[in-house]
Amino acid sequence: MERLQKLLARAGHGSRRACEELIREGRVTVDGRTVTKLGAKASPDADIRVDGEPISIPEGHIYLALNKPPGYVTTRDDPHGRPTVMDLVPEGWRDRIYPVGRLDQDTTGLLLMTDDGELTQRLLHPRHHVPKQYLADVEGTPSESQLRRLRSGIELEDGPTQPAEVMLVASGSGESRLRITITEGRNRQVRRMCEAIGHPVRRLKRVAMGPLRLGELPLGQYRELSVGQVSALRQAVGLPVDDGE
Ligand code: URA
Repeated sequence: MERLQKLLARAGHGSRRACEELIREGRVTVDGRTVTKLGAKASPDADIRVDGEPISIPEGHIYLALNKPPGYVTTRDDPHGRPTVMDLVPEGWRDRIYPVGRLDQDTTGLLLMTDDGELTQRLLHPRHHVPKQYLADVEGTPSESQLRRLRSGIELEDGPTQPAEVMLVASGSGESRLRITITEGRNRQVRRMCEAIGHPVRRLKRVAMGPLRLGELPLGQYRELSVGQVSALRQAVGLPVDDGE
């Protein structure tokens, strides 16, 4: 059983507040009875109608790729009232989905959001070594030996990093762009790695997570993953691709 306004929001009838209004106005029926009480609960399988029209609640999990803008915090709820990544997804989904892992407040780029707990757990578990690829604009130009240190593993205060793929993709006007792929997900890891070689990060953007790529998604926008993209993610963490659907 779930609150009626939550079910209506999930079925696409606007924000929770708008759905509460529909209930208050007496436009919602559950199994033939008009419900005007706001706390009322219903089963998603009940015959729920708005103005006599049955609602349709999408089945299955939700998978979104978001291009996180700078300044947004990766959390469901920020006690300091800062903007969060939840502000960028449809209100009807906010109670269900959550971000998979975390990007720093100033990091931009690919953030997967879903309500699929099993996939989330596997993507975040170090055992599965899911590669995360970043473009890091760093101060100055790291030397080949500094890049080698990043690649082979570098000592951080919480222990040495695993080997990483690191490419210098551009350099000029006092900064360089590195393409860095890591399989761990430690706090501020890329920033701390670059800091450790004396080339602090100025801008950081995640461009891929396992088989999933950010592509041309504009900043602050999200897209739903295709069936093929979900299958590729499942495959990457050893889950069966045929989900019995
Ligand atoms: N590494 C970082 O330093 N920051 C991020 O947001 C992600 C990876």
